Parts: sequence; structure tokens; C-alpha cells
Amino acid sequence: MSEMMKAVRLHAFGGPEVLVYEDAPKPRPKAGEVLVRVHAVGLNPPDWYLRDGYRMLPPEWRPRVSFPIIPGTDISGVVEAVGDGAGTVAVSDEVYAMVRFPAGLAGDSRAYAEYVSVPASELGIKPRRVDHVHAAAAPMSLLTAWQFLVDLGHDEPNPLQPDQHRPVPLAGRTVLVNGAGGGVGHLALQIAKWKGAHVIAVASGRHGALLRDLGADEVIDYTRTKPEEVVRGADLVIDAVGGPATRRFLPTLKRGGALFPIFPLGFDAGMEAAELGVTVSATQVRSNGAQLTEIGRLLDAGTIRVVIDSVFPLADARKAHERAAGGHVQGKIVLTAA
Ligand SMILES: NC(=O)c1ccc[n+]([C@@H]2O[C@H](COP(=O)([O-])OP(=O)(O)OC[C@H]3O[C@@H](n4cnc5c(N)ncnc54)[C@H](OP(=O)(O)O)[C@@H]3O)[C@@H](O)[C@H]2O)c1
Repeated sequence: MSEMMKAVRLHAFGGPEVLVYEDAPKPRPKAGEVLVRVHAVGLNPPDWYLRDGYRMLPPEWRPRVSFPIIPGTDISGVVEAVGDGAGTVAVSDEVYAMVRFPAGLAGDSRAYAEYVSVPASELGIKPRRVDHVHAAAAPMSLLTAWQFLVDLGHDEPNPLQPDQHRPVPLAGRTVLVNGAGGGVGHLALQIAKWKGAHVIAVASGRHGALLRDLGADEVIDYTRTKPEEVVRGADLVIDAVGGPATRRFLPTLKRGGALFPIFPLGFDAGMEAAELGVTVSATQVRSNGAQLTEIGRLLDAGTIRVVIDSVFPLADARKAHERAAGGHVQGKIVLTAA
């Protein structure tokens, strides 16, 4: 009989109530994989997209799943066992990862658990001065911001557009970050500042003080002022809210500028972007352990910090998803598993 662990599983799609904390088989690392004792799990929108049966995707794009599924992608923990040929880390090493993304979209990432088996190439060395809660909060948001803004890190085909996404220069440029209080937004803001950009952060009013503290040069409270009515001549807009409303940022950009919708579904720039001389480009984040190790140095140095909205025990994953559904998240929501 297989050894058991505690995990959060789905036996059906639905609201937060379908997240069940229960016994599940403890994974065994296959060749090239590492078994990690999970200390903390970071939450991301794909966790609720999966829980909900990916209803936001066109039917032909929805991954087929077989229940039960353990959701979640982002973890921080300690190496428990090393599979054949996965010898880049050793037992007791502290690691963090975004597990099998996008390969695991159908529920094969399995992060909401006491143990998770992770391909060795996806593991980053956890920054030493950063605790497991903050490390687990980072991977998907941080890799997304990094792969959009600094280095794509792979040459896999782009599922969202015919061409590869290309980052643009940031030093001395004016960069608007929409959704700047959220997971991707607050890290994109800091990366743009670190690269020497002048950053305009757009968020609801409660995030204002934090965003200035993180380095924003200007803050726009979108509940009072529409950014598209006051901003002109920006070099880059990173829209971490996205969807069809991304279109309104086109006139804020100068000719030769770029618009990066982090959630591009429902937005077709069409002729308008071409007429304005604006490049529109998006990509899908991919697991990358080497990048996590590299960016971990910036976390260790405090150059970039991860902001925590709230922390729940793994057993209360349902409450954590209810918090997410309440919106206006500031930074990241995390589950603790150890
Ligand atoms: N391309 C990829 O591979 C990739 C990777 C990661 C995430 N994503 C997508 O990117 C999006 C953001 O992800 P996330 O993890 O950062 O989500 P998040 O943590 O929930 O952040 C979203 C932020 O948007 C803000 N917001 C909501 N409505 C707004 C509006 N009208 N104007 C300005 N800000 C608004 C929210 O706070 P306030 O309203 O209080 O300001 C919140 O802070 C999601 O749709 C996600 O699916 C895509």
C-alpha cells in the first residue's frame, strides 16, 4: 500500500467548497524528479480557473481532467528525496518552484499537498533570507513579470501569438503597470524600477501607500481617475488585469511603444495598434528553476520583495479561495503546510 499524506483535492468542479482537505497517496519521485516536503503554497489565478473547470476559456481550449485532482503550482519547501538523474539538489536543500506549468494545466502540478514531486529543472534554490511563505508566494507571479520584462528564458512556441514575445528596454523609459497591487503587478513594478524605469502604478486606492513604498513614481487610483484619460506618451504598458478592457491603454502609448497584456484573452489589438505604431505582445509563463535561482538573489538582497496579502493553513484552502474571490488582493495569498 502506498504511503499517505494530507492534500487538498477536487472531486468535481465548482466554488471554493469543492476543495477537500483529505488523505491522498504520497508521490514518489520519478527519474529526473525531486520529492519536496512542502512548507508553503502560493496561490494564483490558474488555481481557481482549474477549480472552476476553466469556464473562462473557450471550450476547445479547456484541458481534460480526471478527478481527483490536487490543484496549485507554487511551492517552497525542503528536499526529501532525489529521483534517479535528478542530482542537482540534495536532501535537506531548501527549494522553491512553479511546478509543471503550463504542462500541468489539467491538474498535474499538485502543489496543495504536504509533498510534491517536482522535475529537477523546475527547482530554484530558495533565497536564504526569505522565509517559506514569501518564497512560495513568488514563483508564478515573479516568473511572469521576469519572462515578460527581462528574459523569456526559453524558445518554445508561443501559444498566444505567432511570434516569440520580446522584452523591451526599460532604463529611462516610462512604464505604466495596471493592476499594480496584485501578484504579478507588484513584482513587475519593482522589476521595472530596478531596471531604471519611471513607473506609473495603477490600482485601487488602498494600495497607494504600498506602491509608493515599492518605488512607484506616480500612483493612479483607478476608482477616481481613469488612467487612459490622463496618461500620454508612455513607452510600455504592462496590463496585469487584462481582458477586453486592455484596448483603452493603446492611446496612452507613444508611437514605437509596447503594450503587454498579461491576460490577453478577449483582446484583439487588430488594426488600431498598427495605426498607432504600438507593439502588442503576450506570452504564457513557463516553469524555470534556473530563473528562480537567479531572481532569488534579488529577493535575498531585498531589491525585490514579495508582499503577502494573507496566510491560511492548507486545511483552510477553501477560505483562501474565498479571500481571492473577494478581489482587491494586495500581493499574494499563501497556504502553510508544515
Ligand atoms: N500570461 C501568463 O502566463 C500569466 C501569468 C500569471 C498571471 N496571468 C494573468 O494575469 C492576471 C493577473 O494575475 P495576478 O496573479 O497578478 O492576479 P491578482 O493578484 O488577483 O491581481 C489582480 C489585481 O488587479 C487589480 N484590479 C482589479 N480590477 C482592476 C482595474 N479595473 N484596474 C486596475 N486594477 C484592477 C486588483 O486589485 P485592486 O482592484 O484593488 O487594484 C488586483 O490587485 C490574471 O488574469 C492571471 O490569470 C497570466
